[in-house]
Amino acid sequence: MKPCGDPWTASGMKDYNKQHEAPVRDFLARLVQDTDNHAKFLNMLSMLEHMGSRKIMVSQMNKQDVLDQDTLQHLAEEARHAYFFKRHAERINGEPMPGWVDENTMTRVPALMYFGRMDAGISKQVGDDAAYGWVSLIIELRACWLYRIYNEVVEAADVHLPLKGLIAEEDGHLEEMFEMCGENYDQLQALSRYETELFVKLWTALEAAYPEGLDNAKAA
Ligand SMILES: [Fe+2]
Ligand SMILES: [Fe+2]
Repeated sequence: MKPCGDPWTASGMKDYNKQHEAPVRDFLARLVQDTDNHAKFLNMLSMLEHMGSRKIMVSQMNKQDVLDQDTLQHLAEEARHAYFFKRHAERINGEPMPGWVDENTMTRVPALMYFGRMDAGISKQVGDDAAYGWVSLIIELRACWLYRIYNEVVEAADVHLPLKGLIAEEDGHLEEMFEMCGENYDQLQALSRYETELFVKLWTALEAAYPEGLDNAKAA
């Protein structure tokens, strides 16, 4: 029997991310009022979702005997999230935003580094065979945490971005990966703390890319 049977309690993630909640919320509240920069942020999320989907595909391709329905569904849903964010980025932007380049993707390089370092760091820690479950579990914690705040912000600001379906899918992935990774809660906490350090670096880069005052200057 699990002593603390849900990923939030087991990881302690919300506790050591508590201090980041308000700054993230404030940043997003400012950002969603600025269509150009909001579109670039959405395109960055699209890139990260695409990387997640691609990572599942590449890491599972040479294990065809275990490429089961659940894994294919996970892969397909992450690919659809990439599409979802791209579609809304382009809708808000009013014109196509092809690919992910510096001009149309907020903090493109720091976002690549965030994903790459997390993947490499966790894989090194847990080994290649267990990497899919652990990397996914840690990403899902972040996705659920961030998208929930994001959803509250867009709803409060009356900005159209229907995140609820996507959040429900991320919740499902989180449950599934938590089941897969078992009960090594010390490792879960350590890896989640490691990811939090990387997330803070990415968020610092975002705040530097979109400093306060930029939205108002633009709207004036
Ligand atoms: Fe996703
Ligand atoms: Fe997910």
